[in-house]
Amino acid sequence: MCGIIGYIGGGNAAEVVYRGLKRLEYRGYDSAGGAFVCDGRLVIAKKEGKVEKLSPLLEGVRANIGIGHTRWATHGVPSDVNAHPHSAGGIAIVHNGIIENYAELKNKLLDEGVIFRSDTDSEVIAHLLARAYKGDLTGALAETVGLLKGSYAIMAICEREHIISLACNKSPLIIGRGDDGYYCASDEPALAGYCPDVAVLQDGDIAELRADEASVFNGEMQLVIRETVPNLAVCSELGLDGYPHYMSKEIGEIPAAVAQTVKVFGSVKQKIAETLGGAKRIILTGCGTAYHAALLGKIYFENMLGVPSEVETAGELRYKKNVVGESVVAFAISQSGETADTVEVARLLKSLGAKVVAVTNSLHSQLTRVADAVVPVAAGPEICVAATKSYSGQVAALYLCALAAAGTEGDGGLGALPETIERTLERTDTRSLAQVCAHSRGVYFLGRGIDYAVAVEGSLKLKEVSYVPGEGYPSGELKHGTLALIDGQTTSVFVICDEALAEKSVVAAEQVLARGGKVAVITCIDSVREKLENRTEYFCRLEKVDKFLSPLLSSAVLFGLAYDAAVALGRDPDKPRNLAKSVTVE
Ligand code: G6P
Repeated sequence: MCGIIGYIGGGNAAEVVYRGLKRLEYRGYDSAGGAFVCDGRLVIAKKEGKVEKLSPLLEGVRANIGIGHTRWATHGVPSDVNAHPHSAGGIAIVHNGIIENYAELKNKLLDEGVIFRSDTDSEVIAHLLARAYKGDLTGALAETVGLLKGSYAIMAICEREHIISLACNKSPLIIGRGDDGYYCASDEPALAGYCPDVAVLQDGDIAELRADEASVFNGEMQLVIRETVPNLAVCSELGLDGYPHYMSKEIGEIPAAVAQTVKVFGSVKQKIAETLGGAKRIILTGCGTAYHAALLGKIYFENMLGVPSEVETAGELRYKKNVVGESVVAFAISQSGETADTVEVARLLKSLGAKVVAVTNSLHSQLTRVADAVVPVAAGPEICVAATKSYSGQVAALYLCALAAAGTEGDGGLGALPETIERTLERTDTRSLAQVCAHSRGVYFLGRGIDYAVAVEGSLKLKEVSYVPGEGYPSGELKHGTLALIDGQTTSVFVICDEALAEKSVVAAEQVLARGGKVAVITCIDSVREKLENRTEYFCRLEKVDKFLSPLLSSAVLFGLAYDAAVALGRDPDKPRNLAKSVTVE
């Protein structure tokens, strides 16, 4: 949700900023821009659209100091004018976050005669800084952030000092030292290849970077040392590696994500078993795909531990009346570990007495700092905005947590699953079904129990990358509403892997067929094949695995379907319109 990068040193800042923005683009791609100091003058280049549009504007820019921004619009439409950096009085800033009191601040500045050029909340920061500046940019930034309410990671440069000043609160910001200067960014991939280690700034921190020195201050402007952690992002993992899109690459990496997650779980198994020991209630939360992984976690905990479990999206849980009694364990699930609603609800539940377990792919994220225990999802960097392999890693991690708490020895069959997923991906071709879905007026994903949890994720994935409308629905509920939408121009995709409930989903599929709707089936149950195969648009037979593990197979097929539909319609599956991967604002 907006990515920012800065560099000061002996190299060319324009190159570092451009390369960093390309790596940060999954955080937003409404516009991109950079600010540099060249011969004592600010040079600003910015453009609506994806980062590559900035490239021609940076040709010829040579500077040893620069900051850059890739935007996901919150206030103000995507446009050249609303693109960051914003500047005033020889100072330029980039900002990730939301300034909640910007309207009040803007009105005051307007009264003072300040002229605003953009509709963004961020522009107030530039004007406040210009007003506070008396020869000390870092001091002026500290004064400015004292006026701000909301979330921010800010980088500022000015014509009169050779420094980058930084501030952050509830938006991520890291700094690192490279061979040829200092770097700062929203996340680790942006600094891969430059900084082997990074320091993670904390809420309220102010920092100042020079070419050969970095200083970090807390909110009281006392010098502090922030822990340095290894930069886990590796350049070789950040490329397309011959794949046409990150989405296809990342679907191909699902087996490895599951295998690695199983491998690293050993280091936290004991702690998780202890944390869940004596739990009387489990709450699971997350947003988007992570919320859908939570739906499966609930099934695992209730069936394998017998502990009442509930799931709610973080955005809802955060604002409802939460009653946290004794012995409550809350699982906060997030690929990025930076999703604002998830991090805030984790903080809230912890303050109410719950033990918080973070299930995340980002070991240095805010969520891990809030949590009492962390379960690593070892999916590796996920760059496509739509989550795929991180979901599989989250599901595997939750299954392992349930196994550990139940005191079950071994991996419950998960160790062998990567090979089965590999075979499933190799043997399954969803392109014909993708064509059908791409030209359907609506696509409905249906299932019961564990299959319903997968169906809603399948629906989300198709919707977000292909823009074909539809919904995920419990197949038992079909006749209570969704059936009214069924006709020859709609497709219903049934997931049927729970033997005990299979017959009921078959009946629902019959009801769709009886109304002329198109039906596709993904199943590992032989009897379903006999009953439906000849009457479906598409029939996918999965290998038979334990019911609790079947979501890792059926979801992989649905991810492939969503990808193929996006490609069939000429969409960019890696950068769906209006979306961003890391939603660090409300
Ligand atoms: C965004 C992304 C989704 C993701 C969700 C939660 O909406 O587009 O793919 O599932 O955020 O992200 P998180 O990092 O918390 O898992």
